[in-house]
Amino acid sequence: MSSKLHPDGKLNPSDTVTNTSGNDTIIDLIEARMVSRRAFLKTSVGATTLAVMGGTLAGSLSEQALAKPAALKQAVAASLATPSPIGGIGFSAVPANTLPMTDAVTVPTGYSARVLVSWGDSLTNAPHWDSTGAMDEATQLRTFGAHNDGMHFFPFPASNKTPGNGKIGNWRGLLVANHEYCDPGLVNNTTTYGTDTITPDMVRAQLAAHGISVVEVWKKKSGFEVKRPSAFNRRITGKTPCRISGPAAGHAMMKTAADSKGKVVLGTLNNCAHGYTPWGTYLTCEENFNGYFGTKADLTVAPLTAHENRYGISKGGFGYRWHEADPRFDIRANPNEPNRFGWVVEVDPWNPNSTPVKRTALGRFKHESAGVVVDADNRVAVYMGDDERNEYMYKFVCAKKYNPKNPAANRDLLDAGTLYVARFNADGTGAWLPLVWNQNGLTPANGFADQAEVVIKCRQAADRVGATMMDRPEWVAVHPETREVYLTLTNNSRRGNTPVSSNKIDGTTTAATANPAVDAANPRPDNDFGHIIRWRDAMGSVGASSFEWDIFVKCGDKDTTKLLGGTYNPAGHDGYVGNINGDDYGAPDGLWFDQDGRLWIQTDQAGDAKGDWVNIGGNVMMCADPVTGETRRFLTAPPHSEVTGVITTPDGSTMFVGIQHPGEDWSVSFTVNSQWPDNGANGDTTFAGTTPAKPRSSVIVITKDDGGVIGT
Ligand code: FEO
Ligand code: CA
Ligand code: CA
Repeated sequence: MSSKLHPDGKLNPSDTVTNTSGNDTIIDLIEARMVSRRAFLKTSVGATTLAVMGGTLAGSLSEQALAKPAALKQAVAASLATPSPIGGIGFSAVPANTLPMTDAVTVPTGYSARVLVSWGDSLTNAPHWDSTGAMDEATQLRTFGAHNDGMHFFPFPASNKTPGNGKIGNWRGLLVANHEYCDPGLVNNTTTYGTDTITPDMVRAQLAAHGISVVEVWKKKSGFEVKRPSAFNRRITGKTPCRISGPAAGHAMMKTAADSKGKVVLGTLNNCAHGYTPWGTYLTCEENFNGYFGTKADLTVAPLTAHENRYGISKGGFGYRWHEADPRFDIRANPNEPNRFGWVVEVDPWNPNSTPVKRTALGRFKHESAGVVVDADNRVAVYMGDDERNEYMYKFVCAKKYNPKNPAANRDLLDAGTLYVARFNADGTGAWLPLVWNQNGLTPANGFADQAEVVIKCRQAADRVGATMMDRPEWVAVHPETREVYLTLTNNSRRGNTPVSSNKIDGTTTAATANPAVDAANPRPDNDFGHIIRWRDAMGSVGASSFEWDIFVKCGDKDTTKLLGGTYNPAGHDGYVGNINGDDYGAPDGLWFDQDGRLWIQTDQAGDAKGDWVNIGGNVMMCADPVTGETRRFLTAPPHSEVTGVITTPDGSTMFVGIQHPGEDWSVSFTVNSQWPDNGANGDTTFAGTTPAKPRSSVIVITKDDGGVIGT
């Protein structure tokens, strides 16, 4: 997407540089890597059995985990060296949504897509929000939040008292969805937000639009709908008290005037993608938190610190302007407040009174998603990307084992363990480098007084140990059989740009300002279309310190005539065509394996079918066969929207998909780019008027007309 509220990584004109230098030998390494993939695929991962919770074996395992944790191990009886065939992709591709774009979600013949819930829809018995006016805090606190992103379906557990024992999760559950950000103009009902006087009420409404929604959904005769009221329905927002746990809790850098102990922060922000645990909790990941902060102070008097620069804190932020009305977001009035964001937050969706917990042991960065894996020895790892140009891929391994017999024993599992960052070697191996205080240069002399400073200044710690700069790590997905971890790398306009530079070892690089040379894991200059990489930890063990990796696909446009800009070193450039086996797409972001091993890929590019995207069209959800690489377009989205968030019921017959920010980058009129969903293109919505007032992010429900598994 192109909104300044969620940067898409395009090179700013002012970033343009002209020197040239390069590294020709990397191409040889890349070619060698492609060849060695054949050997990689034949490598056995050994006898270790893994249960995968980060978006794979999804519903069935979580249902069993909730119902009978001991069933987890039985549910994953074997670990295979190569994935089983998925039996082909069983639908005909939909056409690309090119100009003139269709203002609808389109799915293949034989499938239906219908709106389930939209921003402002009531979660109680109170009326739905009327989108012809402004959103206010009170209304937003009882309605579905803005700009939904990652989500998970927690099926209702079976019990002996439940009719249809074991099946209930296919027709009733908790849909938990992130609300990544908001469009201030749409929230406050103003087309002149950039010059308006910002009031505390305006900020409060926007804070309430963030966070997550817990929504009970159930299947009625006409299909899934929101159950309201429900004791489970809940909003967590940018003001909900969250407990800080782990090594940073109570640290001086976490203390503020409002929280002298550094242990409770108001709210969670920029909740992008997610994860979930086998003990039944949801993980929401705080991504571009820096954009909410700014200052009215004169920065020539108290300049930005290296720490602030490393996380992209700036005087104006992304243009929310909250600091003008709420000093909490002014970095000179409350310099430690930004340190309290950028974490993975654990939420118990089954307890509406539970306090969200910021798990600081997992490190502070622009968290995209958190893929949880449990192995046969009940060891737990969480795989996490930092989504910004030239940032890193992380893994956290819990110190204690998962206890399947006693869910309460797992409550604080994410508070202690070892955080690692990835180094991708050119020969197809990789290393997990520990981010442990007093090791590998993470010492007081280098600015790390304790483990709390290692996790709070996680980017600087990763700089110090020599991690590999990546092309914007987005979602991770884990294959249900091979346990290979797949990672979307959405784009990087700075890759291969000149003059070449790296993130400095002393942590003083301003976020996203380096120009890394191409390397084997990030092989293309001006990586406009992105790629998907995958790896296997050694011996299939989540605690392993080494792995093998290869590139699953380089995305692109086979028909593009775009030429590489003159500031880039052309080494590795492929003409932007990529190597997709099937329908083209670019900017992969959301990623999820269904229980049969189909790989679902969601994209986040401009969504306007112009420029780089004239052939590919708007954003899409693709279905890929991880064995053959065959890729087919399953869904196209409305103009100026992205597709993000996907999960099915345990039986795979109902799929929930998120459509975020339809019609974004409007000017003058809210609906100039899209009137979805209130144009009725995907069924009735809660809008009572006749002319749609605002485009609204929504979750849709997809079913196959014959009731079968989605994708077959
Ligand atoms: Fe919120 Fe990196 O996508
Ligand atoms: Ca994303
Ligand atoms: Ca996105």
